[in-house]
Amino acid sequence: MKPMGAIPADWTAAKLAVLAATIGETPAFVYDLAIVRARVARFRVAMPEQLQLHYAIKANPYAPLLLEIAKIVDGFDVASGGEMEMALAAGVTPSHISIAGPGKRDAELAAAIEAGITINLESEGEADRALAQAGRLGTRPRVAVRVNPDFEIKGSGMRMGGGAKPFGVDAARVPALVRRLVEAGADWRGFHIFAGSQALDAGAIITAERETVALAAQLAEAAGHAPRLVNLGGGFGIPYFPGEVPLDIEAVGSALAETIESRHEILADSRFAIELGRWLVGEAGVYFTRIIDRKESHGEIFLVVDGGLHHQLAASGNFGTVVRRNYPVAIVGGSADSSEEIASIVGCLCTPLDRLADKIMMPRADVGDVVAIFMAGAYGATASPQAFLGHPAPNEILADGGILMRYLTQP
Ligand SMILES: Cc1ncc(COP(=O)(O)O)c(C=O)c1O
Repeated sequence: MKPMGAIPADWTAAKLAVLAATIGETPAFVYDLAIVRARVARFRVAMPEQLQLHYAIKANPYAPLLLEIAKIVDGFDVASGGEMEMALAAGVTPSHISIAGPGKRDAELAAAIEAGITINLESEGEADRALAQAGRLGTRPRVAVRVNPDFEIKGSGMRMGGGAKPFGVDAARVPALVRRLVEAGADWRGFHIFAGSQALDAGAIITAERETVALAAQLAEAAGHAPRLVNLGGGFGIPYFPGEVPLDIEAVGSALAETIESRHEILADSRFAIELGRWLVGEAGVYFTRIIDRKESHGEIFLVVDGGLHHQLAASGNFGTVVRRNYPVAIVGGSADSSEEIASIVGCLCTPLDRLADKIMMPRADVGDVVAIFMAGAYGATASPQAFLGHPAPNEILADGGILMRYLTQP
């Protein structure tokens, strides 16, 4: 038997049962807005008042969810022309949108400039192309420089700073680039410094944020220009696996308040922002999939479901994890038989990679029962190879406090 991660407390058995009975066809992702709202509220209480909260929509760009999140955060971070359109369609003011990510095409740069979206420049070459597009359009581009810092968030699941990286401009070359942008007449907004993702250690985030604010001051001094905005990145993680503990964001918030309070005078008038994806939405999503076959092989039980890694790649352990571990899962409802057994939940794809739970202890389940796979609100539907093997796309549904939104909005 292998362990699995802890089921988030928000997802009670009663709530899951109601949802499983009302969602209709499986496989389906349900995102509960009440959980996202509670996250945002907790962030606001924990963090210094002036800190802006941006949502990194790559975590979950489901349009109805974006419409709701747009009402409660201060801005959106996007990673492509497609996401830019989604953010605009959600009604976000263009000046509250920033685009980051390597390899922005000229057309994407031009679209961002025309809309008045801030471009986080990833290289000197990209800066040249943005300036050329702005010249062609006769518009002053809003730009910030994404910095590749010399540090990372220690222990983060995904390292995005420190050493050679395709992201951002090496810190040592940033002052020269800022001067060049200002001299070229660009509307230079400031710095974007993203040092890692999926960190659960408050101490590591506190240290990285201190280093980030210090680096921003140092770069501003060297450039001779004060940034209007310092985007501190984010990296707040969520506990997917056995033994992981939730991030203490209250500790992060009070340390950040001190860091901002004692900042270098060149940052006196700067504003600060954090951009978060998974911490805001990850625990708010559940992937529901139904058992379509129950079989035994060499003494092991396999529950074959109608979903799989083509919808929820991360739960199969194939999205940036080195060692496969079990996400939290539950059988919803299930048979009257209260016995337990060790079983594996496998998807319907013909590959051994498609294993959603490996040898876990669970109530005996059978064909027709629904399986809930938790932690599915971030990097799920859009971060999975949906076209692989030609199975149907999953449904995506918004709920509010466990009640489907489509019922809420009916007269
Ligand atoms: C630039 C940038 N911002 C924000 C995020 C969101 O990270 P997370 O979902 O872990 O908060 C990422 C993730 O890779 C990123 O690369």
